[in-house]
Amino acid sequence: MQSLTLKSLAISVGDKEVVRDFSLAIKSGEVHALMGPNGSGKSSLAYAIAGHPEYQITKGSVMLNNVNLLELLPEKRAEAGLFLSFQEPPEVGGVSMSTFLQMIASVAKDSPKDFKSMLPEIGLHDTFLQRFLNEGFSGGEKKKSELLQLIARKPKIAICDEIDSGLDLDALKSVAKILRGEAARGAGLLLISHSPRLFELLPPDFVHVLLKGKLVASRGPEFLDILAQEGYKAFS
Ligand SMILES: Nc1ncnc2c1ncn2[C@@H]1O[C@H](COP(=O)(O)OP(=O)(O)OP(=O)(O)O)[C@@H](O)[C@H]1O
Ligand SMILES: [Mg+2]
Repeated sequence: MQSLTLKSLAISVGDKEVVRDFSLAIKSGEVHALMGPNGSGKSSLAYAIAGHPEYQITKGSVMLNNVNLLELLPEKRAEAGLFLSFQEPPEVGGVSMSTFLQMIASVAKDSPKDFKSMLPEIGLHDTFLQRFLNEGFSGGEKKKSELLQLIARKPKIAICDEIDSGLDLDALKSVAKILRGEAARGAGLLLISHSPRLFELLPPDFVHVLLKGKLVASRGPEFLDILAQEGYKAFS
């Protein structure tokens, strides 16, 4: 059983506190949806957990099983089993997708080695692997690149920040299916998204709402319909 346990987190960017008193536990095989208005702190939370230096955790703890992630550099957090897919993945010239995926897969346990055979399912051409990481990729291609990295990493816990944004209708279905498979093999998923469609294809066990840096609701999947109809006005 794997678990990511976040306790009473406060997160600052510069001198601005963007998340406060945030607690959540994500266990093996669980799918958690994290929703909330633009600017509520979802990406800041994801960055801080992954160890981005601009997003400082000023209070609280982050444990992956019994490992204190706050004592580890970002790459060691990844090696410990944490994966973050970015809302806006950076472009990295000079490193091909193929080289990058093989590099990630070589340090992960039980990772697949053949990425070429996965490309058709997510609507990518063979030549995709020869291109430099995210360089000139369309919005949807960047998300597919993040998904391939997730598959290569075989993480214990994956935080996916709007991995569905920009995906076409068919790709969204394929990505949801792959993520369902990740949860079925035992990964815990924290899926940040604005779109109820993703959660129709990939039903969450829990639905959380972050508003102005605070977790204001955590409920079951039935909450999605209420949010889709009423938005966040009940919380503001
Ligand atoms: N590097 C930064 N410098 C300054 N302010 C920042 C930085 N990163 C985040 N913020 C601010 O922190 C707040 C939370 O931003 P964040 O990106 O976490 O929101 P979000 O919930 O992910 O929004 P969205 O749904 O639009 O992606 C916002 O007010 C944002 O402007
Ligand atoms: Mg965001």
